[in-house]
Amino acid sequence: MMYPRLVLLRQFLREDGVIFISIDDVANSLLKLLCDEIFGSKNFITTLIWNTEGNTDNQYEIKVNHEYVLMYVKNTKFKSEAIGRVVDPNTREDSNLWRGVADNNINKNNPANPPAIFTIPIGFPSKEEVVFYKGKNVDQAFFDATKRAGLVSDDIKSAYGIEKLSGLPVKLDDLIVENHKVTKPCRVYGGFANRRKLEQFVANKFKPVDDDEGPIEFYINANAAIRYRRIVETPSNILSVLRGFGTTERMRGELRRMGIHFDYPKPVELISYLLKIGAENESSLILDSFAGSGTTAHAILKQNSEDGGDRRFILVEMNEGISKEVTEARVRLVSEGYIDSKGGKIKGLGGGYQFCTLSAEPLFTPQGQIREDVTFLQLAEFVWFAETGTGYCGMADSPLLGEHEGRAIYLLYNGILKDKSAGGGNVLTGAVFNIIPPFDGPKTIYAAACRLGAPRLQREQIVFKQTPYALEV
Ligand SMILES: C[S@@+](CC[C@H](N)C(=O)[O-])C[C@H]1O[C@@H](n2cnc3c(N)ncnc32)[C@H](O)[C@@H]1O
Repeated sequence: MMYPRLVLLRQFLREDGVIFISIDDVANSLLKLLCDEIFGSKNFITTLIWNTEGNTDNQYEIKVNHEYVLMYVKNTKFKSEAIGRVVDPNTREDSNLWRGVADNNINKNNPANPPAIFTIPIGFPSKEEVVFYKGKNVDQAFFDATKRAGLVSDDIKSAYGIEKLSGLPVKLDDLIVENHKVTKPCRVYGGFANRRKLEQFVANKFKPVDDDEGPIEFYINANAAIRYRRIVETPSNILSVLRGFGTTERMRGELRRMGIHFDYPKPVELISYLLKIGAENESSLILDSFAGSGTTAHAILKQNSEDGGDRRFILVEMNEGISKEVTEARVRLVSEGYIDSKGGKIKGLGGGYQFCTLSAEPLFTPQGQIREDVTFLQLAEFVWFAETGTGYCGMADSPLLGEHEGRAIYLLYNGILKDKSAGGGNVLTGAVFNIIPPFDGPKTIYAAACRLGAPRLQREQIVFKQTPYALEV
């Protein structure tokens, strides 16, 4: 069952789109294999693990308190557009990310960054007014040993009495800072990340140099380490374990206070967070094909009301009872506002929606013809939506379906004219045109055929569309 649904959903994804699929511990491994095949393993981003929290003290043999959210992009080429820049709220409070800054040591003591000498020149900036760090006396054997090891290993450090802090490149000369500036050249030895940028920074007379993620600058800190600092305008730190994003129990309770009963709603906080990742763009279109209680719509309306966005959503719910009494009821209440069961007034989030019902059977045969048992009302709904993008609210008792933005829309089908005229009234002839309700303005007329000549069509402002061909989707 999952396979065809996922194939269909992939077709709906934009090139810069992203899909999240929530799944439990039992089905996760099978789903991952299916998704790798359908979406392509190279488009797999990660499996987010949602800590479902809730009650964990009910003495199961093992209480599974997590679910998975598989995440794929449609096309890795557009990965950076597809994935929003979001800082996980569980990021350390004192993290520089909250201040929009990335601040890190550049000394990377590992074989990927083999040790080499860098000379810190006079004038190199320091955050400290004064720093003094005594240089180490090392011999050639020290350099040979570190070259062999590919790093300044802990053994070598202790053999030469060097502190074990990996953050410190080995000072081969005294490091002296006065007045926030290095006062004499100091050779340091170690493995460095961003070495090329460091050299550009020196060549640039200690002014910030451009880097992909924002300008970057270097400085010496109180521990005599060289650090880099980058202003990150839109920091991002997405963690794969999701904690503190609400619980199903709490969401169920909130729905109950709205007079809605649904057993396993996702918390709105969780979906809101996923939206920040996948629908950062304020005009995103979000499809939830298993809508249930409509948490996705709730989260989108909330997000739009917070940032002024105009994200749109399509919710699909196959259970008729749920779609009306749960999904639609919730979307209406959260958009319009409501009084909860405790008498509290909950303000509406704004936004609107249309409720559409899909016909049980397709309107067209596999050969593209209109199925014989399709009623006038069913085709009228289809034509009206195709022309206007809105739901049909008329009575379907006349070939004139209605007027939309100054244009009348007609449908000649299934004997709506009671067989009084040629082709059972399904062909647009002069006689048929004379008896259909008039409209003084542009008209779009759907019919099986047209016998009016081009000059008449032009004179009467008619755009003719032939059924069923003009209805192809
Ligand atoms: C687990 S619930 C989704 C809960 C939802 N995320 C929420 O927060 O309320 C799954 C829903 O998908 C609906 N459903 C199952 N199969 C479906 C399908 N093939 N097409 C559309 N809806 C489906 C079920 O009726 C059910 O309401």
